[in-house]
Amino acid sequence: MLDQALLSPWQSVGRWLKGDEAATPFEVAHGKDIFEVTKQNPEFNSLLQAGMASDARLVVQVLIRECGDVFRGLRSLVDVGGGTGTMAMAIAEAYPQLKCTVFDLPHVVAPLVGSRKVEVVGGDMFEHTTSGRGAAQVGVARLERCGMCEDPAEMQGGNSFKRGGGKVVIVEMVLNVDDSLPELSETQLLFDLHMMANTSGKQRSEAEWGKLFKSAGFSDYTLKPLLDLRSVIEVYH
Ligand SMILES: C[S@@+](CC[C@H](N)C(=O)[O-])C[C@H]1O[C@@H](n2cnc3c(N)ncnc32)[C@H](O)[C@@H]1O
Repeated sequence: MLDQALLSPWQSVGRWLKGDEAATPFEVAHGKDIFEVTKQNPEFNSLLQAGMASDARLVVQVLIRECGDVFRGLRSLVDVGGGTGTMAMAIAEAYPQLKCTVFDLPHVVAPLVGSRKVEVVGGDMFEHTTSGRGAAQVGVARLERCGMCEDPAEMQGGNSFKRGGGKVVIVEMVLNVDDSLPELSETQLLFDLHMMANTSGKQRSEAEWGKLFKSAGFSDYTLKPLLDLRSVIEVYH
């Protein structure tokens, strides 16, 4: 977080608020969005991926230990936006019957190609879902596509998804799940600001997630707090 590339968006918040062109302060500072920069700057890409992988190493251990039921009975799993595969590889190791696939941007998964532990698919999850849609609808469209593919290779194809009866598992900070510790809520809100500054994303409350699932046509979900900051949400058709 202290790399100049991630500090400059904070120095651009004023310009971002006053202008109406750029989607994020990151774009004001760099002239393009964060994943374009990771594509063009391998050093920044490695830094960002290493940071996220280091976080994933901790989270996946707790996920497997405390929420192992999530994976029981599944035959295949696609980690969408799975980065360099830390989480998928740990899950594949813990559940050898599970065929795990990492799906992320081609330049992110490139070093993983040929891995014997997980399948690797490079592509853009927004492709075929963004035209004419606003940001929230894109989120819904992305969810609609999740849990519907019978074959992970279809992630590349874009619009040929069929309802496969799967579920979507989301490991994410959910706001206000536990308001007994104000420091936790403050940290979650800090991440909300990071999302705003760098990616145009946000952290959501359970009610906001529920609304999103409903709009994407899912019928039900369960939510279990995981680590102090995160929860595991399972979403069903
Ligand atoms: C918060 S990180 C996830 C990190 C990952 N779970 C891990 O364990 O390292 C979000 C990921 O989404 C990927 N991503 C962003 N835009 C994408 C797109 N349009 N299509 C596919 N992946 C994308 C990024 O490259 C990044 O690896």
